[in-house]
Amino acid sequence: MTMETLLLDLGSRSYPIDFGTGIIDGIGERMKQLGMRGQTAVVTNAVVAPLFLERVKNSLETTGFPVLPILLPDGEVHKNFATLQIIFDRLLENRMERSTILIALGGGIIGDITGFAAASFLRGVNFIQIPTTLLAQVDSSVGGKTGINHPLGKNLIGAFYQPKLVCCDLGTLTTLPKREFVAGMAEVIKYGLIRDIDFFHFLADNLEAIMALTPIPLQRVVQTCCAIKGEIVAADEHENDQRALLNFGHTFGHAIESLTGYDQLLHGEAVAMGMLMASDLSRRMGWLSDAEFETIENLLRQTGLPLTIPRFTTEAFLDAFSRDKKVRSGRPRFVLLKGVGHGVVTADIPEELLTRCLEQ
Ligand code: NAD
Ligand code: GLY
Repeated sequence: MTMETLLLDLGSRSYPIDFGTGIIDGIGERMKQLGMRGQTAVVTNAVVAPLFLERVKNSLETTGFPVLPILLPDGEVHKNFATLQIIFDRLLENRMERSTILIALGGGIIGDITGFAAASFLRGVNFIQIPTTLLAQVDSSVGGKTGINHPLGKNLIGAFYQPKLVCCDLGTLTTLPKREFVAGMAEVIKYGLIRDIDFFHFLADNLEAIMALTPIPLQRVVQTCCAIKGEIVAADEHENDQRALLNFGHTFGHAIESLTGYDQLLHGEAVAMGMLMASDLSRRMGWLSDAEFETIENLLRQTGLPLTIPRFTTEAFLDAFSRDKKVRSGRPRFVLLKGVGHGVVTADIPEELLTRCLEQ
């Protein structure tokens, strides 16, 4: 299959998002074509490096880009200042200059931390995303949210900083553990629910082929998600209003992640539960029919996402909501559905409906 490209239109900060299978082998050529020059530092981890680092390094070196590999420890517990410091130490010890291009090779954690390092190293250097998880390809590598965690909360320290290129090689997903792929599908389904009913039906009709990583439907999935995300980010880069739609299921999902201590569920699994709760609340608001709710629940279930919501008290949920980044003037905001394919952001929810939804 040939490479396809989408342009994320952000004026002077616009960038291409490339899609294809095996395209990491042409990354150096592509960078040259885009007029890039300089040294590169490829930031990755011990899980991803043995899988793809050599191929990326080969392509860069044969096209004249010197490569400094930087290996970080794997896992959300390492998405912190100490790990960020490893990147700065390696760059400075190797006298890397302002023309350095940082390349994130890995999942969302590598992408977020590398992007933040790029935003601040020597007051900002160029960076490229090579996302290797489904979640990173359809969500975190696009849109410029970068950052690290603080002991008091996830992703609290960071910057909006856009990459110069995103290279989505679908071939990298073949080595991804199944549970990670399924968790990424929660974010995929999210795009259909908030923006595109036809895409939602496409997912339902082609689920088996998608889960088997069949190249044509899989590329359509990743491309459609990036197109929807790109459109939303182009309209509201800094999340003043409609970018919040991308958080469908996340207010409930973040509460579930925080109440379960972040070590039982993958992010996408908690988001799937959160989307089910947000759909239930939409139904209670009279905005979603029972039949629509069931169709959503069926697709989430058939994808293999866990949907048994751990039990917590209403007070525990409300307390977790109050710490959500989306709280405005003390009121949690929710993304709800007015029908499949149409997400809306609202803080205007009758308390008894929310309570009944939490008591389920
Ligand atoms: P991750 O980066 O932890 O990757 C999941 C696991 O898969 C890791 O162990 C990783 O090393 C491994 N891995 C990566 N690629 C692989 C491959 N091709 N084959 C085998 N193993 C592979 O998790 P994730 O789900 O990609 O990202 C989660 C992070 O993304 C969170 O920190 C979250 O906050 C962040 N995020 C950011 C945004 C954003 O807009 N910036 C959006 C959503 C999530
Ligand atoms: N992942 C949500 C956003 O990028 O806004």
